Amino acid sequence: MTNHAGPIGVFDSGYGGLTVLKEFVKDFPEYDFIYLGDNARTPYGTRSFDVVYEYTLQAVKKLFDMGCPLVILACNTASAKALRNIQQLDLPRIAPDRRVLGVIRPSVEKVAEMTHTGHIGVLGTNGTVASESYPIELEKWSGGRVVSTVQEACPMWVPIVENNEIDTPGAEYFVQKNIANLLARDQKMDTIILGCTHYPLLIRQIKKFLPEGINILEQGKIVSESLKGYLDRHLEMNNRCSKKGTVIYYTTENVDIFEQKAGFFLGHNVSASQLHF
Ligand code: DGL
Repeated sequence: MTNHAGPIGVFDSGYGGLTVLKEFVKDFPEYDFIYLGDNARTPYGTRSFDVVYEYTLQAVKKLFDMGCPLVILACNTASAKALRNIQQLDLPRIAPDRRVLGVIRPSVEKVAEMTHTGHIGVLGTNGTVASESYPIELEKWSGGRVVSTVQEACPMWVPIVENNEIDTPGAEYFVQKNIANLLARDQKMDTIILGCTHYPLLIRQIKKFLPEGINILEQGKIVSESLKGYLDRHLEMNNRCSKKGTVIYYTTENVDIFEQKAGFFLGHNVSASQLHF
């Protein structure tokens, strides 16, 4: 274990975390980042607690091996199912001087500020919805401002994004169906959390089927603001984040496909390397 400066690790099951990384790079251009997408094993949303925990821990260890002092789980499913165990059981044992943060808590704090009615809707993967992480955390951290949380699992959305089927009638069909299901559960809902980092890529379709007046919380910006606050409060960690403005990409799947799709999501070309666990 060293205290040398290193990049901030950003992990997701696939491409979704790029929506978070994009905001990090905008807000922290001088910092170094390593992005790791576990494309070979995506999606995580339909996997059990134990499997998501095992895969996420492997990824975190890899990012630690690559010198990251801080890892962000840019994945709600991993944040919901693995973060607590990693923070409480693994870090004290394997890397007491390093930190792993997730995306749920910053989203919950922000949504509590945004809502007027206190009625929230959450769209997420099967895993995130079944974990009840959002209702539990909203109850705990909203200071009483959130009075109702309804959820809808959207198991088809991640495969649609991962397979670049975003602009298709199939995508519209599933987005419309899941949004209608969510809306039917609570008439007073005024804010919806896109509780999966893949979902901003479907934002055009989502907006098309959501009535006016419902706020949408996209996580990239929120998580980036929250990272800023964290680094301001933890200067010793900030000093351990290296700052040469580099971004390195790893995928557990085919590099050519990753480069092509990641370039599409980020709006610029990237070059990636393959990594095996
Ligand atoms: N992007 C992820 C999330 O935020 C994971 C989706 C998946 O792998 O199912 O939940």
